[in-house]
Parts: sequence; C-alpha cells; structure tokens
Amino acid sequence: MPTDSLERARATLAGAARVTALTGSGISAESGVPTFRGAGGLWRTHRAEDLATPEAFTRDPRMVWEWYAWRQEVVALAEPNAGHAALAALERRLEPGAFTLVTQNVDGLHQRAGNTEPLELHGTLWRVRCTECGEERALIEPVTESLPPRCALCDGIERPGVVWFGEELPEEVFEMAVEACRRSDVVVVVGTSGVVYPAAALVEIARAAGATVIDVNPEARGPDSERRIALAGPAGTILPALVR
Ligand code: OAD
Repeated sequence: MPTDSLERARATLAGAARVTALTGSGISAESGVPTFRGAGGLWRTHRAEDLATPEAFTRDPRMVWEWYAWRQEVVALAEPNAGHAALAALERRLEPGAFTLVTQNVDGLHQRAGNTEPLELHGTLWRVRCTECGEERALIEPVTESLPPRCALCDGIERPGVVWFGEELPEEVFEMAVEACRRSDVVVVVGTSGVVYPAAALVEIARAAGATVIDVNPEARGPDSERRIALAGPAGTILPALVR
C-alpha cells in the first residue's frame, strides 16, 4: 500500500463531519473468528453458505444449532482486536450521532470493544427467537442445553436471531444504514468481500451520494480515485493507523 494512500485517507477521515463504517467478518479474523468464505469457513464438511439457510434449519435444526453453538463458543473465547478498538475510538472522537457503525457480523465484538448500538444487518448470535410464537430472548453465554433449544412459553423450537440467506434484512435497521450512508462524508469499508446484497448496495448508495469510500482489506486493490482509497492490509494494523 502506498504511504500516501494512508496519509490521504487519514486526512480525509480527519476532515469528515459524518462517518459510517461498514464491517464484515474480516474485521474479526484477527480475533480468531473465521471469515465466511476464507480458510476456516468450513465446519465439519459443510460450507457456511449451506448451513445459514432456512432450508438447512428445517431439514436438520439440531445440526444447524450445533454449528451456531460452536460459533458462540469461538466468539465467547475471542477478544475484540485493535481494529475493533480503533472503530470504538473513532466513535468517541466524533460528535454524538455523527458516527454510524453498520455491521454484517453477528459476533457482538463491536459492542464488546465499546461501540454503542452498531446496526446489525444480519442480527446477532446472542439472541434466539421461537419459530412458533415469536418470543425472543437474549443469551449471555453459548447455548448448552440439548439442541435445538425450546421456547419456555410454548415449547416451540427456537432459532438463532440471525438473518439467513434468502431472508429479508430487518427493514428498520437497513433503512437506518441507508440513511447513514447517504449522509456520510466518508464510508470506511472493512473486511467484507462485498458480494452479499443488499449490504453491498450500501457502498453504492454512499458513493452515489458523494461520499469518499476507504476500503480496508488485505485484498483491497487500487486504483485510488478522487472518491475511493484502497488500504491493503489487515484491519488490526490499518485501522489504528487510520484513526490515530
Ligand atoms: P467474507 O468471508 O465474504 O469476506 C471476508 C473479507 O474479509 C474478505 O474480503 C477478506 O479479504 C477480508 N479479510 C480477511 N482478513 C482480514 C483482516 N485481517 N482485515 C480486514 N479484512 C480481512 O465475509 P463477509 O463479507 O462478512 O451473511 O460476508 C458477508 C456475509 O456473507 C456474512 O454476513 C454472512 C455471509 O455469508 C449471512 O449469513 C446472511
């Protein structure tokens, strides 16, 4: 990565009144949480993309739950990394309401790093919802009961409080994310392959509204332009340098 890209990105971010960060699983990679499409994205012999579907859950709720219980364990043992910490510092640095964090991650590491109320486009590992009566409950630790867990009210099977492939994103959360992208001077995109719609559309919305997009990803490729700066490298190194 050219040093002048980092300098330009720092200056652009420092001059921005409103900022949105959009994160994907890459930001948690250095905490030891596997990304979806990278190495480690396989569980037993299954691809994440084949497990995170309503069809897989209908076919075998227990197996899908075993995968989620394993992911909860991985995340519970993980710590937020320097990239998460830098985004928490950025939120503290900006005026109240001027920073929005939008994440596709379900791990809760942004909150543990100190970001208040990230917009969780794909829900969270730390809530479950009854498939019969819709009752929700928060989890404070990985599920340990026999799987699948059952609703205390109606004994229906509970499902993870996440968005699966083919399901709608929570509408209000997505609308808030769109609004933040429209209003931001800078959007920092971190650790997402950008292939999953409609999260990927947020970057286009921001660009169309005139924001500068700063891309933080080991795979980030140039060329830079007036409204796009690529910072190729891991979030845990790049974000602290960007926000410092
Ligand atoms: P992916 O696994 O598709 O992409 C991870 C991205 O992180 C890749 O672009 C990597 O190059 C990058 N990356 C890896 N290590 C990194 C590091 N240390 N720092 C910065 N970037 C790094 O994951 P997502 O883009 O998050 O959706 O996937 C998006 C959605 O698709 C997920 O939320 C999930 C998934 O299937 C649902 O479950 C609905």
